[in-house]
Amino acid sequence: MQKFGGAIACALTATASGAAPVVPSAEQAPPAVFSPATLARADALLGKMSAEEKLGQLNQLFKFGKAPKLDVMVREGKLGSLLFVTDPAEINRLQRLAVEGSRWGIPLLFGSDVVHGYRTIFPVPIALAASWDTAMVEHVSAIGAMEARAGGISWTFAPMVDVARDPRWGRIVEGAGEDVHLNAEMAAAQVRGIQGPRLGTPGRLLASVKHFAGYGAGEGGRDHDAANISDAQLYNTYLPPFRAALQAGAGSVMSAYMDLNDVPATGNRWLLSDVLRGQWGFQGFVVSDNNAVLDLESHGFARDKRDAAERAFHAGVNMEMASYVNAYAHLPEALKDGAITAAEVDAAVRPILATKIQLGLFEQPYVDEALARDVAARAPAHRVEARLAAERSAVLLRNEGKLLPLSPTAYRRVALLGPLGDARQDTLGPWVFAHDLADTVTLAQGLRAKLGADVRLDVAPGVQIKRTTPSPFESIFKERSPAKWDAARAADELERALALARDADVVVLALGEKQDMIGESASRSTFALPGEQQQLMERVVALGKPVVLLLMNGRPLDLGWANAHVPAILELWYPGAQGGAAAANLLFGDASPGGKLPFSWPRNVGQVPLYYSHNLTQDPSEQGRRYWNEPSTPLFPFGFGLSYSTFTVTDIRLDKTEMSAGGSLEASAVIENTGTRPADEVVQLYVHQRHGGASRPVRELKGFERVTLRPSEKKTVRFSIGPKELGYWSAATRGWVNEASTFDVWIGTDSKAALKASFTQTR
Ligand code: NOJ
Repeated sequence: MQKFGGAIACALTATASGAAPVVPSAEQAPPAVFSPATLARADALLGKMSAEEKLGQLNQLFKFGKAPKLDVMVREGKLGSLLFVTDPAEINRLQRLAVEGSRWGIPLLFGSDVVHGYRTIFPVPIALAASWDTAMVEHVSAIGAMEARAGGISWTFAPMVDVARDPRWGRIVEGAGEDVHLNAEMAAAQVRGIQGPRLGTPGRLLASVKHFAGYGAGEGGRDHDAANISDAQLYNTYLPPFRAALQAGAGSVMSAYMDLNDVPATGNRWLLSDVLRGQWGFQGFVVSDNNAVLDLESHGFARDKRDAAERAFHAGVNMEMASYVNAYAHLPEALKDGAITAAEVDAAVRPILATKIQLGLFEQPYVDEALARDVAARAPAHRVEARLAAERSAVLLRNEGKLLPLSPTAYRRVALLGPLGDARQDTLGPWVFAHDLADTVTLAQGLRAKLGADVRLDVAPGVQIKRTTPSPFESIFKERSPAKWDAARAADELERALALARDADVVVLALGEKQDMIGESASRSTFALPGEQQQLMERVVALGKPVVLLLMNGRPLDLGWANAHVPAILELWYPGAQGGAAAANLLFGDASPGGKLPFSWPRNVGQVPLYYSHNLTQDPSEQGRRYWNEPSTPLFPFGFGLSYSTFTVTDIRLDKTEMSAGGSLEASAVIENTGTRPADEVVQLYVHQRHGGASRPVRELKGFERVTLRPSEKKTVRFSIGPKELGYWSAATRGWVNEASTFDVWIGTDSKAALKASFTQTR
């Protein structure tokens, strides 16, 4: 049986001695996904369908090429959904087969990974998280959803909300990084953007929060590797972002690939049924990750494909995503044999039909092909949003001597060097499908447009970077990667770049990882700059010119040397289609960086996992020095980011210093722009519980607000602290508690904030 069976009962009933109970279920139950009318209509339809037709709704397949077999399946009602069809005409053709050719005319759900835009590509999710701007994230998610819906897509496999504390894992780029609260806030913002205020909002999509659950904790940062996570870590760290997405109304959940404490997530009944439906009251449906049901056999969990199908079905996977063949094709046999029941089939199919009804697909199954074209044509308005998003996501890591912003009149020759300076695909980042590559503004294009005719811009890659093993996604990239340079070419290119640097007044280096070096199947055992980039940087810096380092990456990189020798470092992430325009604005001061790191930036890979919200040790004063060879602190802390202006945070206040459990108080502080430029700062609230039934993290983010202030302008920022911020799942009592204790509160501009107040909570 499932390992965790006993934990749930305890979680719902236990109370800590000396602590007020927190009941997570009632007040936090997610809103109803479906209206009663929708459910009644789904039931009426179920009443007419044959068992085979019902089970057909549980199958989802990829569509590669022509695939005539799929046409037959659609007509026979053996398919509920397809993914990766992006041509509106093909969507209409297939939908017509479903609506006009199958017995009950049930429309197909067309799904796709609309992860950071559809036609218009926005910065990658880790970048959006670095904006700490939930309103902006909601807004760009809505644009992506609207473009996709207009193109015939009705379902996105987003947001990814996996907390990632090991940046060797490539998929850290798809989420919001290491922190629970930031992940939860970004999860909810994305769901609001994708679905609108409720599932079925015209022009929006169904969201699928993924990958349930614990995928970010794979051993060694290796993709798909087993995750061993204690119950306390699950409840306090890995599950809350999912909960937040469901609270925001997410209508579907994608199950993860890996073993969670020895039970594959996709066959994990405790996770998919007891927690998701039982404890949390989730009403929507679960889709497996691709081939994850078939993989139950590879895990050494299921006996064969039929067993895999039955176990995933019983665990709570409604729909099976597969590339070519569904394990769920065995479910009709299983039904005949009595291994699954008709009532279970109805329960599995009901939310899928209800979703299609609520999305309005029965009324409007087809794409308006003219509108689909129009959306692409209207994209210029969306491009402005993409540029703003990229500007707001950038994080200024270093700015010695205020080198940035560069003066637009001071330089006659600028050299842009590095493999990412003029790289369209890399500027976009991973997980893009339906865009037009020609829309991408590279750094070279952005700078050229900004600099005007009197300034000479020289661009050269200097070095070439490539994965040592090819990316499995190579075939879907819109641009083929060029052949590897031979030694002579490599030497020439390096010399050419250095010659340009020698002649320049200022050098902009564009370094990092190519987009195929991050994302799915892109874990890495080192954070060194790939290829010869470090040497290029060191040789350029040795020339003694002013140097700005622009980074394109989705995980931390080894920046120890750069942080000691390169005066300005600006993190752009993969900034999306307007990345070059945004970078030019940031470099020359038409925009001011205000983003903050969504993860602790390690000094080197040996520190991993390294996150700020660790528990205290027996000798907290030694917390920073637990390796003998170097500090145990990060190179840049979580929440860190500089600005072109300066800010102070003062006057921390709590409206009470004592309260009883269940109550709430207000914490506030005053932020002032003490510099000379209008700029943004992110005010962050951290809380620590000094003692209690279990050890608590040294501090945890519980609130934040990004503010824009003119020089000398002040603002009082207010945060509420109550049961939601103070409660936690205690391993000691195996339940939710909100304890009597003393709490410290810090308000500041990163996770090292020193401005502190304290309060006591009584029973
Ligand atoms: C596998 C990935 O893990 C998942 O995130 C994605 O949504 C599906 N493939 C479909 O592309």
